[in-house]
Amino acid sequence: MHDMVPSVILALDVEDKNKARAILQATGDKLEWVKIGLQTYLRDGPDFVREVADSGKSVFLDLKLYDIPNTMAKALESLADLPIGMLTLHASAGPEALTRCSEFANELMPDTLLLAVTVLTSMDQEVLSSIGVSSSVEKQVNRLASLASEAGIGGIVCSPLELSRLRPLLPDKVKLVTPGIRPSGSETGDQRRIMTPGAARDAGADYLVIGRPILSHENPAVALEEIQNELNPATSC
Ligand code: C5P
Repeated sequence: MHDMVPSVILALDVEDKNKARAILQATGDKLEWVKIGLQTYLRDGPDFVREVADSGKSVFLDLKLYDIPNTMAKALESLADLPIGMLTLHASAGPEALTRCSEFANELMPDTLLLAVTVLTSMDQEVLSSIGVSSSVEKQVNRLASLASEAGIGGIVCSPLELSRLRPLLPDKVKLVTPGIRPSGSETGDQRRIMTPGAARDAGADYLVIGRPILSHENPAVALEEIQNELNPATSC
């Protein structure tokens, strides 16, 4: 069993900056990490990333970069001055792109952990076959996670149900970051393959990406605190 307590990353999936600011204020110091996705980044831009970082949060920028190696390395160059703690790219961009990005990040973005996305959870066997991938989803996830790790990428985004398979496959230093987390009793929404925070911790998660269970709670700070207490009962009162 994994004995580290995972950190919660709040997926800041809200319609506008003011809602985002209100949530950040409501969750206060209890929250360390915030995930900013494509929708928000394309709407609010790098200034919003700086604003969130200036408010004391670590930013996970979820852009899922995917392009030829040169363009991916140049994209990192454009992001290098931003205060980003984690950044996603697609492992299926291939070994050269992953190696170039990891070398660039090691040298010029030492505070940014690169995370590889393997097979999107919206893709099943049928979708993989339709784009010409004959491996099973599981094999493809394993292959892409190993490829990313061998290229020096520091973490993998995975479904909670992949944690127990990937943890022994990858070096301990590779971080596992998982969405699809639902505290018991909360609405599942459109998430199907879910786990509770405690089960994901026991399966080896290093970070849990959680949105709606916190965002739609009448008191987001209480929702966050309950999750953190479940993750680390020793510190709860
Ligand atoms: O609201 P919820 O807790 O479901 O939010 C989870 C976050 O993780 C969202 O930002 C969602 O886009 C993201 N995500 C996911 N499943 C994946 C990859 C990312 O839910 N496979």
